[in-house]
Amino acid sequence: MRHSKNIAIFIGSLRKESLNRKIAKALIALAPESLSLKIVELGGLQMYNQDLEETLPAEWMEFRNQLKDFDGLLFITPEYNRSVPAVLKNAIDIGSKPNGKNAWDKKPGAVVSVSPGAIGGFGANHHLRQSLSAVNIPTMQQPEAYIGNAAALFDDRGELINDSTKSFLKKFMTEFAEWVERNSVQGKHIVQEVQLTPSVIN
Ligand code: FNR
Repeated sequence: MRHSKNIAIFIGSLRKESLNRKIAKALIALAPESLSLKIVELGGLQMYNQDLEETLPAEWMEFRNQLKDFDGLLFITPEYNRSVPAVLKNAIDIGSKPNGKNAWDKKPGAVVSVSPGAIGGFGANHHLRQSLSAVNIPTMQQPEAYIGNAAALFDDRGELINDSTKSFLKKFMTEFAEWVERNSVQGKHIVQEVQLTPSVIN
């Protein structure tokens, strides 16, 4: 039986009318029932400075603690100068420290990049994957999600109105639910160990 999974959503834009936030909301609406999704706000996180590890900012502590409650991580990012916006990279850095207490460790993740441009934030998507690999987040490879021409996908109220994008995002979330199920720490408990008999006996 599929268990309900708590998923954190991180959005790499602080803009009120953010296209990435609109996509995040659409993803929440299109997700299978087995996922419970929550947007974790990143705008209040002080810039990472290793000196502050001595006198931890309260919001860093809260952010690190919060991560423990999630079974999966969904990163939704704009592209800034062909890379990841600072606000998102800052959150990744804060969650990864101090040494030995990487809060991201082994939590399954996925990336969606969103841009009004035609390339759909490809550069940011893959730069982000490099950091996710460093903090040991097993990140879904397929389907990839590069949402291009994103300004044309919504109505005046910010609702996603493009049917083919809707059906793609629905499929993406179904695959992501499977990914989380297969890669969650809980899931690993049901994998049986196989004892191999040596084929050559000296
Ligand atoms: C951008 N934008 C942008 N777009 C893109 O496709 N590739 C890029 O390299 C960049 N670079 C870039 C740098 C900076 C500093 C800004 C502010 C913007 C445009 C960007 O995709 C657009 O502003 C999006 O609307 C940002 O996402 P939100 O805020 O709508 O979620």
